[in-house]
Amino acid sequence: MTTFWSLYVTVLTLGTIFALAWLLFATRRGQRNEATDETVGHAFDGIEEYDNPLPKWWFMLFVATFIFALAYLALYPGLGNWKGLLPGYQDKAEFANGEKGWTGVHQWEKEMAKADEKYGPLYAKFGAMPIEDVAKDEQALKMGNRLFASNCSVCHGSDAKGAHGFPNLTDADWRWGGEPKDIIATIEGGRHAAMPAWGEVIGDQGVHDVAAFVTSKLDGRKLPEGVTDEQVANGQKVFATTCVACHGAEGKGTAAMGAPNLTHPAAFIYGSSFAQLQQTIRYGRQGQMPAQLERLGKDQVHLLAAYVYSLSHGEGEKSAE
Ligand code: HEC
Ligand code: HEC
Repeated sequence: MTTFWSLYVTVLTLGTIFALAWLLFATRRGQRNEATDETVGHAFDGIEEYDNPLPKWWFMLFVATFIFALAYLALYPGLGNWKGLLPGYQDKAEFANGEKGWTGVHQWEKEMAKADEKYGPLYAKFGAMPIEDVAKDEQALKMGNRLFASNCSVCHGSDAKGAHGFPNLTDADWRWGGEPKDIIATIEGGRHAAMPAWGEVIGDQGVHDVAAFVTSKLDGRKLPEGVTDEQVANGQKVFATTCVACHGAEGKGTAAMGAPNLTHPAAFIYGSSFAQLQQTIRYGRQGQMPAQLERLGKDQVHLLAAYVYSLSHGEGEKSAE
């Protein structure tokens, strides 16, 4: 923490405590000490309030919380960069037995060290195996499933089937490639997709027509109501000049840029209705998959890649053989 933020936290915390203490004592001063039948004078639905002082024990409880808070903040870290007076809470100093004092961070470090000790060798073992083999190992898949649940399911869903804007990882459609090396690269380094906004470039009619053309190519899709063959033909021209560079001559996509296949509805993450297509084409899309290597390390990424790989190469494929 910089000195500024350290001071900021310290002044704000101590200031609040002292302000509350002042409030407590200031309001007490004006009060009489014995109970009366007088009310404070206002009524809500017939309920009135006696004008009595705070009971003494209640007042003392407040005072005790102030003392507790100040003592706690002196002994333990809590005020900015203040490390606390207790041994074991300074960065270097530890208790006599080498244990560090309890803090959330220390507990986390301890648990991570324990987990590393337990799982490290396993991660290393799976990390050295080819993805295809790891993807068949029951224990590896269980560990992968747990890693997925805590690191990936917020976006891809706990069943990895994706959601609007987040791709389904269990099907055969890959935006960035579904080979083991592609999946590893995706998870390690993340991916930034860049679908430009075309509204300004090709105009409303262009957006409309090229969306109609894409619709006509989606398997089994009828033309949207009111769209003429001429417009589709114009859309095809727009596609050939504007879209092929990334989505390919047949619209099947280019994995190197994360440009998706536009020829069947299941491959779309932003929706494939006529309206949704126009929205995407007019304003563009920038899907971002966050990089994981620094957070998780090589071995865990390897395990996750195998888990992801197994989702589309598992039982389903076997039973199809
Ligand atoms: C510079 C490369 C590039 C060009 C040119 C380009 N796209 Fe894209 N397009 C992409 C990328 C990359 C994505 C993926 C965006 C994402 O995942 O956020 C994408 C996504 C899309 C999607 C959304 C697919 C989904 O998953 O919902 C549609 C529809 C689409 N493009 C249509 C077009 C059309 C039509 C054109 C021509 C007017 C075009 N694109 C031109 C790169 C391109
Ligand atoms: C913050 C949300 C987020 C998190 C967390 C996240 N992802 Fe993603 N992921 C995305 C998005 C968005 C894309 C699609 C990027 C694009 O538009 O091309 C993606 C794409 C992918 C792809 C490529 C899919 C394809 O079709 O090529 C894989 C594989 C993947 N994620 C795996 C993972 C794994 C494994 C984790 C957990 C370590 C993870 N993701 C965590 C948002 C996320």
